[in-house]
This record gives sequence, structure tokens and C-alpha cells, in this order.
Amino acid sequence: MIFVLGICGSPRKGNSYYLLEKALESAREVAPKEVKTELYSVRGKKFAPCISCFKCGELQGECVIKDDFQELREKWVEADVIIYSVPVYHMGIPAQLKAFIDRLGNSLFGRYSNLFPGEAKLPRSLKVIGAIAQGAHLYSGQEHTLTDLINHALVMGCVPVTGDMWETYIGAGAWTYNDVGRNVLADKSEESSLDMRVALRGTASLARRAVELAIILKSGGKVEAKRLEVDPVYIPFLARVRGEVTSQ
Ligand SMILES: Cc1cc2nc3c(=O)[nH]c(=O)nc-3n(C[C@H](O)[C@H](O)[C@H](O)COP(=O)(O)O)c2cc1C
Repeated sequence: MIFVLGICGSPRKGNSYYLLEKALESAREVAPKEVKTELYSVRGKKFAPCISCFKCGELQGECVIKDDFQELREKWVEADVIIYSVPVYHMGIPAQLKAFIDRLGNSLFGRYSNLFPGEAKLPRSLKVIGAIAQGAHLYSGQEHTLTDLINHALVMGCVPVTGDMWETYIGAGAWTYNDVGRNVLADKSEESSLDMRVALRGTASLARRAVELAIILKSGGKVEAKRLEVDPVYIPFLARVRGEVTSQ
């Protein structure tokens, strides 16, 4: 089973949500019986910013702030593939998602600290992470936003993925033709404009590649389990390969 978690970083049900639905549809098409998808939206959720208390280091990764972070963290830990779909905000990722990512990174150091005594280290979790970013304008932050999410994937020991050429280089992107309406991309999806084709083809190929790569990684993990299990950095990955979810 491949669990694909789509995370919508917009506080409304709009263009990011629409592209994410398309991505998850394409993900399921790769292997309908083997792929389970879930769309999680930050809409209506609360993610307070990290307060830098470093208590998560002492509490096996538990965050002292109790809000929607814990729920999304558990889904994130369980997922084989994560596809972020976000609006560009001020040339970057929206604040709610950034708050989640900041807290996730630090709390996972705590969660896995028993694997690496005395060292600040994260496991090579080998989740596949892809990103979709769209904004109101062109040349207005889509690539910066995708880069933020690729950097996040790398920091978390995951594998960033893009879609196919020529529509995608580092992730899928779109713009809403200088219209801030929430349904612009859905309304224009029937149009054969080049920009919409780029958005939809890019989104679809990114999702397909992400699932295919996850299948390849998990199959490889099965074959190489004996070699990998001697190194604690692979323990969470191998747990996913075996269908277990573990805090170890
Ligand atoms: C606070 C804020 C900042 C924004 N900053 C940018 C920006 O830097 N570049 C851009 O192209 N669009 C920007 N936008 C526009 C949104 O990215 C755009 O409307 C997008 O389609 C919203 O996606 P959604 O429908 O998924 O919420 C901004 C919108 C808001 C509310």
C-alpha cells in the first residue's frame, strides 16, 4: 500500500485545493488498488508558530503547544508520499504551513532521539515529496515557494520529486491571470490555454512520478532490508516498508 497525503496550504477551498484534487486523482490512477490518498487542508485549522522552547527534545518529540499540529504530524509520519499544494504568499509558503513545518522538523529530532543518542540527527525517512505552487501573477514567487518545499524535503531526509518536462522543472506551477478568485483554475480548466495545460499536465505528471518513485523505493527497501537495518537511520523507513508505523 502506498499512502499519498495531499496537504493543501491554503486557508480557503480554492485553487490550491483544486490542483491537489487533480494530483491525487492522478496518483490513484498509477495503481488504483494499491494507492490510498487523503487530502488534508489547513483551512480552519490552527498551527501556532514554534516558540523555540526545545521541550520537544526532552519529550520524545511531543510539542508543548496543543493544536492541529499533532494530527497532521501523525499523518505526515505515516505517509509514503506527500504532495503539497500551496498558494504563493509574499513570494513564499503561507504562514500556517510554515508553522507546521518548523514544528515538525524540530519535534522529529526529539521523536527519533533514541535512535541517535547524543546526536542531533534525523532518519533518512525516504518519503517522496512533491510540490505545486500557484499565485495570482506570473514570475511572482512560484519557484521560490517550490524551492522552500524542496528544501524542506531535503532537510527531512526525504526525496523531492518533480513532474515531467517540459511543464515542470522543480514542481508544478500555475497562475490565476491576475484574479484572486478562489475558483479561477477550476473555471479555466476546460479552456485549452497553454498556461492551464502546463498547470494540469505538470500536476498530473508530478503525482504519477511521486507514486512511482515511492513504489520503487519501498520495493528496494524490501529487497535491501538486511543491509539497511544495521543503520538506525533507516529504521523509520523500513517500518513503513513493513507496513508498521513506529515512533522508533
Ligand atoms: C497574503 C497573500 C499574499 C499573496 N502573495 C502573493 C505573491 O507573492 N505572489 C502571487 O503571485 N500571488 C500572491 N497572492 C495571491 C494568491 O497566491 C492567489 O490568489 C492564489 O490563487 C490563492 O490560492 P488559493 O485559491 O488556493 O487560496 C497572495 C495572496 C494573499 C492572500
